[in-house]
Amino acid sequence: MSPGAWAASDTSAAGGAGGARTALDEPWVLGGVRVPNRVLLAPLAGIGNWFVRLQAKRYGAGMAVSEMVSSHAIHYGNRRTMQELLRIDPREREHGPVSIQLFGQDPDVMRHAARTVAEAGADMIDLNMGCPVPKVCKTGAGAALLSDPERALALARAAREGSGLPVTVKLRCGRRPGDHSGLALAHRLVTDAGVSAIALHPRVASAHHSGQPDYELVAELVRTLDAPVILTGGLRDADHIRAVFAATGAAAVMLARGSLGNPWLFAQLVGARTDAPDPSEVVAELDWVMGCAREHLGEERAGRYLRKFYPWYVARLALEHGCASALRAQLQSAPDLGHARALFASARAPAPLAMSA
Ligand SMILES: Cc1cc2nc3c(=O)[nH]c(=O)nc-3n(C[C@H](O)[C@H](O)[C@H](O)COP(=O)(O)O)c2cc1C
Repeated sequence: MSPGAWAASDTSAAGGAGGARTALDEPWVLGGVRVPNRVLLAPLAGIGNWFVRLQAKRYGAGMAVSEMVSSHAIHYGNRRTMQELLRIDPREREHGPVSIQLFGQDPDVMRHAARTVAEAGADMIDLNMGCPVPKVCKTGAGAALLSDPERALALARAAREGSGLPVTVKLRCGRRPGDHSGLALAHRLVTDAGVSAIALHPRVASAHHSGQPDYELVAELVRTLDAPVILTGGLRDADHIRAVFAATGAAAVMLARGSLGNPWLFAQLVGARTDAPDPSEVVAELDWVMGCAREHLGEERAGRYLRKFYPWYVARLALEHGCASALRAQLQSAPDLGHARALFASARAPAPLAMSA
């Protein structure tokens, strides 16, 4: 698919869900780019490569955002970053746009990195202003940008200028409990830096990924921001996701941990299926992932890389507790992909599992 193929010809569907009730399977327009539905894959560091994004798209995700990529690594041409993290598979773009997430703190570096991302074929750029990890924050990037709004605006402008693509920003609501500086920054990013949408994770950065997200803050941003708001945080169960989508008025939902090893959740949310995967589907899906990882990383690296994926798929097999932990342990020491696959294929599931677990 050629660059720009997702440019919207009909912009009447633009904007958030506010006003009339919107369904998750309705198309919308983000910065002039058509997104076929409102169920998106969140950026996931160390996970959200081309084949994880493609998997989400195969099951119906309207857009998938890459794992965060260092603007510095792109600027300096780091080989693995360029070959592996900026790899976009053409099939990804058959199902909807691809967004690459960048992090960094230097606007000049960001401008150049954004141009490179556009040349790599991305439809959109997302900027990470929510990562709470000290290694990222101590450089002034990620959630540290909540305390440095002028730099945040300069980075967003630089990404737009460098790429010519729509730019979105993923934000936390604040850095520490009671801090809502993320909401003020969201407004400035849209009005002063031309950002097309805000993805809000309504947990403060100091909470990392634990605790209850404050969905009322998302609803408040939806009411006040003149741009679509994308909701992320705590989205694991289809009924709950539909409820918070409706309650907040968000333009879209962005699945993160709830989608790990569970691409069927995308299908359920866009109305493509209602039943749970049976064990043979789970094994076949992991097989597909293994094939992609082998092609992407080679046999040896894929074997190590996929160790973090195995527990997600074991969870979908609904095995009795003892069997599941034994299988997880065996998988962690499987000498290669062939052994891991054989272990999976021989696992027996006692009963179909609930779809939204
Ligand atoms: C393993 C992991 C990696 C993540 N990597 C990123 C990332 O690269 N960029 C980002 O903006 N957020 C990242 N996040 C945050 C998620 O995108 C998401 O906003 C967060 O997990 C909240 O959603 P959840 O509670 O449904 O998991 C990551 C989260 C996890 C658990």
